[in-house]
Amino acid sequence: MPGGIALAISLLLILIAGSNSREFMVDNRCNYSVWLGTIPSMDLIIFEVPPKNVLLTNADDGWRGRIWLRTHCTTNSSGGFSCLTGDCHSGVESCDGKLAEAPVTLLDFTNFSNNDTLYVYAVNLLHGFNVPVVVQPQGGPSPCQATGCPEDIKKVCPVELQVTDTNGFTIACESECDKYHDPKVCCIDEYGSQDKCHPSGQADMFKRACPLAHTWTYDGGIFSCAGADFNITLCP
Ligand SMILES: *[C@@H]1O[C@H](CO)[C@@H](O)[C@H](O)[C@H]1NC(C)=O
Ligand SMILES: *[C@@H]1O[C@H](CO)[C@@H](O)[C@H](O)[C@H]1NC(C)=O
Ligand SMILES: *[C@@H]1O[C@H](CO)[C@@H](O)[C@H](O)[C@H]1NC(C)=O
Ligand SMILES: *[C@@H]1O[C@H](CO)[C@@H](O)[C@H](O)[C@H]1NC(C)=O
Ligand SMILES: *[C@@H]1O[C@H](CO)[C@@H](O)[C@H](O)[C@H]1NC(C)=O
Repeated sequence: MPGGIALAISLLLILIAGSNSREFMVDNRCNYSVWLGTIPSMDLIIFEVPPKNVLLTNADDGWRGRIWLRTHCTTNSSGGFSCLTGDCHSGVESCDGKLAEAPVTLLDFTNFSNNDTLYVYAVNLLHGFNVPVVVQPQGGPSPCQATGCPEDIKKVCPVELQVTDTNGFTIACESECDKYHDPKVCCIDEYGSQDKCHPSGQADMFKRACPLAHTWTYDGGIFSCAGADFNITLCP
């Protein structure tokens, strides 16, 4: 398999050992670099995953948090690091506890408060979309559901929600809630309950493109798995 050979000869291996650890393998099949952003930090030394490279990182079993993908990142003449999508405004490659700027595809890894052995994961599009991704649990005692948004929503993003670079190329797609702050669209205030909250046109469109993703407050797309590691494939 040619893809496999390409991976084998350009494997970028960042392994932070730990006894009770959980592995995240990020396989970048996009034709552009992505820089990982995480909160809380994951002891990464290298953040950039170039095209056709794989980055392997470990987190402590108790690690719960959020991973996202930053794109179009540069270091300017005074050494300041920033990205056109997913930027965390830390000025350096590490996010230092700072959150991603939307729109961005979010990978959430959390837990159920009553069962710490279950790892809860979701590909969350509540704050828009930038990079197509599939999250595949692996290695647990029983198989678990893969999730993600493998479609490139940037290609079907309505003009008013497109975020473009200086060449007019669409680099991300915003959520209507983030753009318009309408309580009805955001499912807050008087719309903050399951019977009053309905998906917006944009959430519906995201859901049609990516049925497994979490696109609005009450649509599901949240999975759980015991004892798994995770393969994260970008532009699958
Ligand atoms: C990457 O892929 C996109 C879409 O397939 C294409 O338009 C673009 O030219 C490619 N860029 C490079 C650097 O190959
Ligand atoms: C370089 O980037 C940093 C961090 O984003 C920013 O604060 C600074 O103003 C930039 N400097 C120049 C010369 O663009
Ligand atoms: C799981 O979530 C609950 C509630 O947020 C928290 O108290 C608990 O420490 C979490 N467990 C782990 C292992 O993170
Ligand atoms: C927690 O989840 C595991 C794995 O599904 C299950 O075996 C266990 O019974 C659950 N514990 C509780 C307290 O629900
Ligand atoms: C996870 O990625 C590894 C390395 O590419 C691969 O060997 C393995 O089959 C993948 N697992 C799943 C469940 O896709």
